[in-house]
Amino acid sequence: MNQNIINARVTFRNSPIHILEKFTIKNMENAYEQFKKHSGLDECVIIQTCNRIELFGKSKTYDLDKIKKTWASLTGLEEEVFDENMEFGENQEALHHLLKLTSGLDSMVLGEEQILGQIKNSITSAREIKASGKHLNTLFDKAIRIGTRIRNSSGISRGGISVGSMAVKLAEENIDELKTKRILLIGAGEVSTLVAKSLQRRGYAFDVASRTIGRSQAFCETMGGTPIKFEEVLSGFENYNVLFVATTAPYFLVTHEKITNAMKDKNNGMMILDLSNPRTVDEKVATIGGVKLMNLDQIAEMVEKNMKTRLNKVKTIENIINEEVAVLEASMKRLDAEPLVKEVFKNIENLREKELQKALQMLGEKDEKKIKIIEELTKAVVESIVSTPMNNIRKASEQGKPDVVKLASKLFDYKKQNQAD
Ligand SMILES: NC(=O)c1ccc[n+]([C@@H]2O[C@H](COP(=O)([O-])OP(=O)(O)OC[C@H]3O[C@@H](n4cnc5c(N)ncnc54)[C@H](OP(=O)(O)O)[C@@H]3O)[C@@H](O)[C@H]2O)c1
Repeated sequence: MNQNIINARVTFRNSPIHILEKFTIKNMENAYEQFKKHSGLDECVIIQTCNRIELFGKSKTYDLDKIKKTWASLTGLEEEVFDENMEFGENQEALHHLLKLTSGLDSMVLGEEQILGQIKNSITSAREIKASGKHLNTLFDKAIRIGTRIRNSSGISRGGISVGSMAVKLAEENIDELKTKRILLIGAGEVSTLVAKSLQRRGYAFDVASRTIGRSQAFCETMGGTPIKFEEVLSGFENYNVLFVATTAPYFLVTHEKITNAMKDKNNGMMILDLSNPRTVDEKVATIGGVKLMNLDQIAEMVEKNMKTRLNKVKTIENIINEEVAVLEASMKRLDAEPLVKEVFKNIENLREKELQKALQMLGEKDEKKIKIIEELTKAVVESIVSTPMNNIRKASEQGKPDVVKLASKLFDYKKQNQAD
């Protein structure tokens, strides 16, 4: 490639979260400005999530030390820490990595969807502030399309995978007409968020109880559900058919006695999913007639099984990525010839137009129909002469033959060739 595509990254693969955080870039606009000014990169895109901070760049000549230096100055880190934590790849490797990102293969939870949205946001904001240009815009648009296609065809992103969505799936499998049943979520923390998201996505109504009503209210404002007073639910489980329990309480919140009492007045069953570790639902409730209890170990086992299905797809996806990288690389290389091709077409078009006007003036031609015929003739002549060499230049560029592009630049007297386009 005449131009290089680079990727410098610090991710959860090499660095624990507390170290990773230190590489976080706070002021994105300033970071783009600094990388472009001081690292020899003329296009940049930064992807920043809780699991990774990644810089993609385009440059004819870049300097890795300068990239590290700039990143260090943005974060206040010593340059040496980059050697232990930073991974680097260029061209084919960088493209390959981007496809792994968009297809979900590099994610902590294989195939998770979030990363694709985060990459879309990164390229959109880089584009808006003109940090990225023709190369990275084209690369990211294509990589997002390829990643989406891979996800759809392989099904790697399909199926519940978090403990939250797996718990909801289990409730669906065990309870008839779940939509008509009353669901209670106890806890308003991280795991409850996963459960709520899944319930919300599938259109189930649910109540939320947390120790303080304020926390439940705040939770429901963002996650959906109806906040219910904690004391009320602890003495009234009979109103519910499904309980999701996800708290860090150091004792049983849901006791044998409470459920026995609740089941006395009920004429239908109850499913309890205890997502807590240590457990906050007494195991003995499983002995009460009409009660089905599932604990975190059983739910985690299902997640694990589901994960295996995803793992089986990795090899197939890797093969697709390897094929796609070659195509992506060719379209990047092709971009190297585009400024020359564009310039040649523009110059020839100007010449054609100038000579056409000259000829029409000499002929004194006024008949629109005849003028149109002459104009079409000039266009056809130009097209038939120029198209083939231009396509060959593009092809040579795609095939990684910069010498041909260089020679063509000379032949067509193209001066901008060495400038960043
Ligand atoms: N995070 C994970 O990846 C993960 C995965 C699987 C299972 N788990 C397990 O799921 C449980 C919840 O984890 P989390 O990450 O959601 O925790 P979290 O974000 O810290 O939330 C904890 C929740 O428990 C509530 N709570 C704490 N002590 C309580 C008590 N004495 N009585 C009633 N409620 C109490 C808190 O209520 P307040 O808001 O009132 O404090 C809060 O709603 C834990 O047992 C954990 O081991 C976690």
